[in-house]
Formats: sequence, structure tokens, C-alpha cells
Amino acid sequence: MDNEKIIIANWKMKLNLQETLELAKSIKAKFKDLKKGEIAVCPNFISLLEVAKILKGGKIGLGAQDVFWEQKGAYTGEISPGLLVEAGCKYVIIGHSERRKFLMENYEIIHKEIKAVLQVEDLIPIVCIGENWDERKTDRRDYVLYDQLQQALSGVDVVGDQKIILAYEPIWAIGSGTAIEPSEAEYAHKIIKLTLNNMFGMEMVNNNFKIIYGGSINPKNVKGFVGLENLDGMLVGGASLDADEFYSVVKAVL
Ligand code: PGA
Repeated sequence: MDNEKIIIANWKMKLNLQETLELAKSIKAKFKDLKKGEIAVCPNFISLLEVAKILKGGKIGLGAQDVFWEQKGAYTGEISPGLLVEAGCKYVIIGHSERRKFLMENYEIIHKEIKAVLQVEDLIPIVCIGENWDERKTDRRDYVLYDQLQQALSGVDVVGDQKIILAYEPIWAIGSGTAIEPSEAEYAHKIIKLTLNNMFGMEMVNNNFKIIYGGSINPKNVKGFVGLENLDGMLVGGASLDADEFYSVVKAVL
């Protein structure tokens, strides 16, 4: 992949429709002079079409927070990769830990969703991995990351210039207000990179993959992450709900 850093805002289910549209407008205005890097916002499903209209002609990309693994059919309540593209999405978050926790999503599902997303053109999966606190404190993180990557990506064909973004999100840091130590993130990103290198080869990993960090990033702690060798960007939750705060995070990274 290119060397551009990417910062993705995950708005979760934290805003109503009106708030979502207002935030999209503020963020579009704030970043109108963006010269480098990539930024995307991921609002709730029902806001996607309206947010796409707002973002049109600006520098901010649009992403969704989830997707189904089939392209069409009797799947009540689900949204296909093709529909997301029609709605204007360039990105989609897959397997966020909150979905793994509350909706029992597992890496079999995540694997199917990645495959389905790669079948449609111009939609980039943001695949979430990361250990929980129990795994971290019993020193199982490295294996957990290896295992999640294997389950999610084994047998996935990456062709041409298809992109995949891996989001390393230690579950215990998400929404906690405290990010992990940057050195620990760098270590985890290295494990992820080495595992990907083994699975796909170094050249493909350099060209087609990005590894980003997520978990309580804010304008203060983001500075510690800047310049880490294996960090290609950020997935930001709480700090992306305020245009000024998000702007400070992005400015520190780009
Ligand atoms: P947070 O969320 O920045 O609020 O911790 C990150 C995420 O869940 O993607």
C-alpha cells in the first residue's frame, strides 16, 4: 500500500441522526485543506446516504461499521458489500470487538465477511483483531493475534491492488480512556506484520496491507504513537465524536 497514513473515525451507535449529520458537516469543513493522508468516518447504517451527500466533493471518505457475507438474498436485517458501495462507502469495519462481544461474531464470520467484501470492487475491509485483558495478562497476546489472523485471512485471495487494513485493538484499551503504551503497540504490530509476511509474502504485505491501532486514542496520547515503524494509522472512537478533538488527533499523525 502507499505510505499514506489513514485515520478512521468509528462513531459506533453514539449519535442520533441529527448529531451525525452535524458532525459530518463540521469534519468536512475542518479538513477541507487536507493535503496528505486519508481520513474516513464510519457512521451508523441509516445515516450513510445522507453523510455521503455531505462528504461529496470533500477529502473525507465514508465507511460502514459492519457488513454481511452474502451479496443478496433472504437475510433479514443485513446489508451486503454491494449496497455499501452503492451508498458511497469506501471502507467497512469487520469484526469489531463490540460485535464479537454483543453479537457473538467470531472469526469464521469475520473470514466470510472479508471474502465477500473483497469480491466487490473498491471496498476496503478494516479487520479488527486484538486480545482481551485476560489473554494479555497471561501472556497469550502473541498467540491470540497469530490465531485471529490465521482464522480471518487463511485462504483469502488478495489480488491486484486490493487493500486490507488490519486494526489492532486491544479490547481492554477500547473505551477505557487509557491507550496502551506505544512501545507495546509497536510490538503487537510487528507480530501482526510478521504473521502477515508469512501468510502473504513481504511484497504483498507492503503493497496491500496497512496496520493501524485503535483503543482510547486522544489528542494527548496520540503523540507517543507518531513515528512508530509499523503503524500506518489509527481507528478512533470517542475522540472522533468532536470535530476539534478529531482534528487534533489527525494533525498529530499526519
Ligand atoms: P475508543 O474506540 O477510541 O473510544 O477506545 C476505538 C474503537 O472501538 O474502535
